[in-house]
Amino acid sequence: MSRLNAWIQERIPVHGDQLRELTNEPVPNHLKRWWFALGGTPAYLFVVQVVTGILLAFYYQSSPSAAWESVRYITEDARYGWYIRSLHKWAATLMIASVILHQMRVYFTAAYRRPRELNWVIGMCLLMCTLLTGFTGYSLVFEQLSYWGATVAANISDAVPVIGSFGKQMLLAGDTYNERTLPRFYILHAAVLPTTIILLMAVHITFIRLHGVTELHFEDESPDEPDHFNFFPDHLLTELTIGLVLMILLSALATVLPATMGPRANPLVTPEVIKPEWFFYVSFRWLKLFSLSVAVISTGFIIAAMFVWPWIDRLLIRLTRNEDASVYVGIVATFLLIGLTVWEAVVTH
Ligand code: HEM
Repeated sequence: MSRLNAWIQERIPVHGDQLRELTNEPVPNHLKRWWFALGGTPAYLFVVQVVTGILLAFYYQSSPSAAWESVRYITEDARYGWYIRSLHKWAATLMIASVILHQMRVYFTAAYRRPRELNWVIGMCLLMCTLLTGFTGYSLVFEQLSYWGATVAANISDAVPVIGSFGKQMLLAGDTYNERTLPRFYILHAAVLPTTIILLMAVHITFIRLHGVTELHFEDESPDEPDHFNFFPDHLLTELTIGLVLMILLSALATVLPATMGPRANPLVTPEVIKPEWFFYVSFRWLKLFSLSVAVISTGFIIAAMFVWPWIDRLLIRLTRNEDASVYVGIVATFLLIGLTVWEAVVTH
């Protein structure tokens, strides 16, 4: 055993003390509450996506003539295919929901303020990539709704001033949906976006390690309680427990509400009602409230403001002399987000 140890030590010259120092960093007590440690949840779900995505890729075919049939084969004929596909679909839903909740927690605790502004920007890039991965994944099934959803998205992109028509061409690999469109979505969904997410997560977590997480204190905390606890093993155990609960939840959702097949895409028949996935309901309803150009320009403006929010927040504080000005903006934005999403969900047009 000691010879084996020596062999390993010589080849991987990392010592136990160094490893302990690297993983034992004390983390603030509030991370014991799930709401404050929500960042780990999308990371965990991303791993589920990669594993189930690789299994689906063994069977999926990205040409328009074969795509729908290959998904039908996975869902109805391949052994446990329905389960893997349903896990992938539910993990995507929960990942998007948990990224949004994590961002809300960061926002409402003002954890994006100096010196963490750049990590907020990295987080915004993660949000955009996660939403795009959801969009491209939905399109791969080549159902009526996903096909027409992608066509509508490309037309919306066309309305963006200056770069719009280039964006549409890039998305569709041409002026209209054609046989190269689906392979392009597939490369984006299965290679470009996941790799970008991995790189962004690495930078995000490096920043968190460098700055530490924001220290938060609560009224119900006893003064005798220590302020911090160890990352290893205590916080890791919390994260593992969350992971286990998520796996049970995912498995239950996949079994009770499995992914189904809609009708195959037909480019000649426009469906009566076109709806995107739930996470785009808010933008879709926004589009219906205004003319296309007003909706597109205002959406671009809102996204840009979200990217630079840490600096807008500083300006708001200076102008209003109120540290909590952003909280009021956040409350209005949350009501709008929920209101527009529910509105789009309950009406047919
Ligand atoms: C795939 C998506 C994401 C992953 C895996 C992730 C992961 C994490 C983790 C593990 C933490 C440590 C604290 C915690 O668990 O809450 C964290 C903190 C943080 N995240 Fe994220 N995050 C993601 C998306 C975002 C987004 C969308 C934003 C905002 C736009 C964001 C901004 C931040 C900031 C500013 C912190 C520091 C918070 C503090 O100091 O308390 N993250 N993130």
